[in-house]
Amino acid sequence: MLVLFFVALAGLSSLTALLLYLVFRPTRYDGPPAGSSTGVSVHIVVLGDIGRSPRMTYHALSIAKHGGKVNLIGYAGNAPHPDVTTNPNITLTPLPTPPRRPPSIPFILFAPFKVLYQLYHLTRLLAYTLPPAQWFLVQNPPSIPTLAIAILVCRLRNSKLIIDWHNYGWTILAGTRGSSHPLVRLSKIYECHLGRLGDLHLTVTHAMARQLRRPPYSIPEHLPMLVLHDRPAAIFQPLPSPTAREAALHRILPAEHRDLLPALCRGDVRLLVSSTSWTPDEDFGLLLDALVQYCSASPPPAPVLAIITGKGPQQSFYLTRIAELASQGRLPREIVRVATAFLPFEDYAALLACADLGVCLHKSSSGVDLPMKVVDMFGAGLPVAAYQGYESFGELVKEGENGRGFETAEELAGVLGRLFSEEGKAELDGLRKGAVLEGSRRWDGEWEASVGRVTGFVKS
Ligand SMILES: *[C@@H]1O[C@H](CO)[C@@H](O)[C@H](O)[C@H]1NC(C)=O
Repeated sequence: MLVLFFVALAGLSSLTALLLYLVFRPTRYDGPPAGSSTGVSVHIVVLGDIGRSPRMTYHALSIAKHGGKVNLIGYAGNAPHPDVTTNPNITLTPLPTPPRRPPSIPFILFAPFKVLYQLYHLTRLLAYTLPPAQWFLVQNPPSIPTLAIAILVCRLRNSKLIIDWHNYGWTILAGTRGSSHPLVRLSKIYECHLGRLGDLHLTVTHAMARQLRRPPYSIPEHLPMLVLHDRPAAIFQPLPSPTAREAALHRILPAEHRDLLPALCRGDVRLLVSSTSWTPDEDFGLLLDALVQYCSASPPPAPVLAIITGKGPQQSFYLTRIAELASQGRLPREIVRVATAFLPFEDYAALLACADLGVCLHKSSSGVDLPMKVVDMFGAGLPVAAYQGYESFGELVKEGENGRGFETAEELAGVLGRLFSEEGKAELDGLRKGAVLEGSRRWDGEWEASVGRVTGFVKS
């Protein structure tokens, strides 16, 4: 009797599931729509601000350039790249922004609610509102819940999935919550298991591609994996002449440091630039310690103007610290001035092109990603001193060719002292040539040769 009941129940549930599927199943992709010249259609999903997702923007522009139809789906925040908004082959589809967490509700209670909210809106949009596409392109991270939805939608709608691995979400989360936190473990399992279900994988470094083939990721060998290094945006270019540099400096120097303009133009004062998000994972204290040590060198080193750009939570803490160090005479104003700025994009690009040295404090959470800001510095022809304690470092910064690595404040102070001295001029010039060379490699060429060919987005 009981058995009969369960058989009936099972039958009824399968029937209901089948009915639900038949009624609610989304339309499927079956070849290019009439009138499309290449037949390629791609949904690019960014669970973030489109205006602040340069890599996904470049994918969209490259696909569109070769006649593919792109739907760029993400949050509307910062203005997207102007070429995206005017491109007839790209449609921008905004996602509704999830509600913010009220301070009284703990993260662990709010996170599932936010995920459900995103789950509902993404599924509705990707499975029903938008037409089916030949390809889906998602980035990782953030991949909760985008990756799961993309996999489901791809299966239901007969689309193929490209996963663009920028980094791992779980290592970033582990940096703030510790690696044994349940959410960290959960997101690790999620990323490792769902990650294997993409049809094509893109990575930002060779080190990451190697790692993804090994446990815990274990992406099967038969799935193609292409390395596509980040490349600078077109706006980052070296300046053509000293006159152009002078004009740019005149425009962007903070008002209280205008008096340094002639000395900067002569090269008597060196311009150092660092951009930071002022978060705990970038140890700004390291640069500050290095500058203090730089000041105490004898004979007295070349004067430096250090401009730090960016906004973030620890900024006021460090500003107080800088003022303290100055008042104690440990950062004498005649040797080092530290200025902070938050510049419009064009001015930031000009600042990089004017500077003598860029400093990057990025510490990779996964060990296999690379800092975009160094890519942009090279684009502007600016050599770098960069934190080097992670595996993929050498894929971007070539020691002695386009920059110098360091791990401690002493090492950074040593690099600054040497490169800014009279004897270090030739070395710095050499590094600058290397930076210009590295920065001259741009996105389009590499994209066309790899992703474009493999996917058939580019007709050969
Ligand atoms: C849009 O696609 C067409 C082919 O359908 C192509 O000829 C054109 O160059 C593309 N436009 C842009 C701005 O990428």
